[in-house]
Amino acid sequence: MPSAIVTGATGILGREIVFALGKDPQKWQTVYALSRSQKEDYPSNVQHGRIDLQAGPQELAKQLQGIEAEYLFFTAYLQKDSEQENWDTNGAMLENFLEALSMTGAEKKLKRVILTTGAKQYGLHLGPAKNPMEESDPEVKGSGRPPNFYYRQQEALRTKSKGKGWDWVVTYPNVVIGVAKGNFMNFATALGIYATVTKELKEPFIFPGNPDLYTGFDCFTYSQLHAQFCLWAALEPKCANENFNVVNGDVQSWQTLWPKVATKFGVHIPAKQFSLKAGVENEVELIERPPIADQAAEMGIVDRIYRGKLIMKVDLTKWAQRPEVKKAWDTVVARHGLDKDAFDKATWLFLNFVLGKNSDVVINMTKARKLGWTGYYDTWDSLSESLDDLADEKILPKF
Ligand SMILES: NC(=O)c1ccc[n+]([C@@H]2O[C@H](COP(=O)([O-])OP(=O)(O)OC[C@H]3O[C@@H](n4cnc5c(N)ncnc54)[C@H](OP(=O)(O)O)[C@@H]3O)[C@@H](O)[C@H]2O)c1
Repeated sequence: MPSAIVTGATGILGREIVFALGKDPQKWQTVYALSRSQKEDYPSNVQHGRIDLQAGPQELAKQLQGIEAEYLFFTAYLQKDSEQENWDTNGAMLENFLEALSMTGAEKKLKRVILTTGAKQYGLHLGPAKNPMEESDPEVKGSGRPPNFYYRQQEALRTKSKGKGWDWVVTYPNVVIGVAKGNFMNFATALGIYATVTKELKEPFIFPGNPDLYTGFDCFTYSQLHAQFCLWAALEPKCANENFNVVNGDVQSWQTLWPKVATKFGVHIPAKQFSLKAGVENEVELIERPPIADQAAEMGIVDRIYRGKLIMKVDLTKWAQRPEVKKAWDTVVARHGLDKDAFDKATWLFLNFVLGKNSDVVINMTKARKLGWTGYYDTWDSLSESLDDLADEKILPKF
């Protein structure tokens, strides 16, 4: 029976991997769940360990004494203020951890490292990218593009696995729908708080982004589906040394999802929502040369390329500062006995980015399907279930 190490065990993606492994003690003997904090109780085959991945390899090796496993699921992530700092910090966290496993001798037992990165692989935070996004698409580098720590992490796997007894798999989820406390990119929590406060204030439920995205296509990853994918890819021989998109696998749009969100919360979408004046609009230009520009010549669309923007009907960072918004949230918290910190920990900038981009995101699951992956989740079901889970956790009022 194999064992597993999961870093980032309390994160939105890592905790689901821990629970998926924890559900099957007949198959997974011991699961070492590692993070700086412990936020919940675990099944009997899961041992939580506190670790600070910002330590150097020697210190990490001390912290990792007695910990070894065939499979390493690396989902730790520490958000920094700039992409250069993300490169430095998150690149070093993975490299130092692998170095530490080598120092303790645990590397000899290792068979596969499953690294979680994301669809920023395609530079979609920098502007329009080619659709659908495929794993063979080129890395987005040069021409004023910021560093991308995913590239450093993947290069580390390629170089450090050479001549060793282990291989690797990398996943690219996009806009993760799930539950986590106090993390850096929490879509469902921020969206749920926006809807809850809008209802309390009896205001119209305006889509905070723009009509281009609303009437186009977007892609999402249910955290539980991502965990299932990681467990499948860990044990599937054909996945060795391969990168994979991991999204729900349905075709989705905001024009479909937003009315469903409105119905769940009992709020009203105005018939001409994009013509209304919200008072907290904002526009931010993204970098000059969008990712798609790199493939534009071969696709014959050099004259059709446009610079990306975040166009927000409701800039959520400004909205969250409105005194009546905070007051309405405090009233809801008091009425329903909710977690009062949820508002301050909500990730408004992230939601601005998710809803404000003015280009489609379509991510292809063909590569994994060709190797036998059959997993699928309806995005609305995943969002509705996550909102219910957040209500159970007392982060949102009960539906
Ligand atoms: N969330 C999304 O929507 C999304 C979408 C696409 C891709 N991704 C990618 O998925 C990966 C995982 O992100 P996530 O959203 O799951 O992150 P997350 O929810 O913020 O969780 C981060 C995890 O890393 C741990 N961690 C942070 N700093 C640490 C340190 N110094 N030492 C030990 N553990 C540390 C945290 O635990 P402690 O704080 O307790 O240490 C937590 O368990 C990242 O590469 C991210 O870019 C995320």
